[in-house]
Amino acid sequence: MALGILLVGGFGTRLMPLTSETPKPMLPVAGIPVTEHQIMAAKAAGIHTLVLATSYLANVFTPYFGDGSRWGIKILYAVEKEPLGTGGAIRNAAQLFDLANLGDEPIVIFNGDVLSRHSIAEQIKFHQSKNAEVSLHLIDVEDARAFGCVPTDSDGRVTAFLEKMENPVTQSINAGCYIFHPRVLNEIPLGKVVSIERETFPALVKDARAIYGYREQAYWLDVGTPAALFKGSRDLIDGDFQSLAECKIDPSATITGKSSLGARVEVGADCIIEDCIVGDDVIIGNGTTLRHCFIAHGAHIAPATNLENFYQSVRKSEPIPS
Ligand code: GTP
Repeated sequence: MALGILLVGGFGTRLMPLTSETPKPMLPVAGIPVTEHQIMAAKAAGIHTLVLATSYLANVFTPYFGDGSRWGIKILYAVEKEPLGTGGAIRNAAQLFDLANLGDEPIVIFNGDVLSRHSIAEQIKFHQSKNAEVSLHLIDVEDARAFGCVPTDSDGRVTAFLEKMENPVTQSINAGCYIFHPRVLNEIPLGKVVSIERETFPALVKDARAIYGYREQAYWLDVGTPAALFKGSRDLIDGDFQSLAECKIDPSATITGKSSLGARVEVGADCIIEDCIVGDDVIIGNGTTLRHCFIAHGAHIAPATNLENFYQSVRKSEPIPS
């Protein structure tokens, strides 16, 4: 289990005038706000409580997401009167958690303008296996010149945070999903404007703290510009990006092991879906467990079915054994 913070308070100036009345994370991608795509991914990774760190146009979020029960997750709100920057926003939002008594419970932080299908659950496992104070999702891009880059050593330890440059030393960039140990969040000054990328991360690396890069090449897109927003919407419709927000997943279901779910899939109560490929329009009845299964488009799986290493052929009419 883990806690989450979603950073959704930026001005989104590069998307003006689209962001003059709608915050960037609430812009729709294939009809669903970016934030909703992210909430579903967080929920599927076992995050039970998520704070939306809002500032610019803060009052747009609450009527839409409420207490989160519709998505099976607890949503809280931390509103900054004046934007505190990414680091200040994280520290402000973390006040809603009892940091001193969280022990080692990981806190997962998301930039609110990213569509990603990397496995948050695997990133959490990596973070814990390294005993990391912070771990960041890193993604390799063809041309890293437009981004700051993040080199690591052979063990995955981050060795520097470098600003944009003409000849980047690595293609690995910060993909905007960070996991913090509660103790490290406590060190960010409260009520001050702080940039996590320009101040907190470089300072932690300089102090030789345990900062690790989690590498996973999965679908990833920063929707910060109009061109990227259109690309995200096209990718979702083409199926290049599969969002869990298109599916109906019961809050008690667990989706793990980098399972991929197709469009409009429905997963019933208490299901466990582990390491599976599930096609479009599949309906999975309550109490079903699927481990390493391939389920073809359109299949209906009866409640309380247990299947392991089961590959269904693509003919929809084939009955599924239970
Ligand atoms: P641009 O103005 O176009 O650069 O967009 P932006 O304001 O969203 O900034 P940027 O893309 O750097 O922000 C990355 C993420 O952090 C986005 O999801 C922002 O909503 C969020 N963010 C940036 N600044 C703040 C802030 O001061 N407070 C909060 N709560 N979130 C922020």
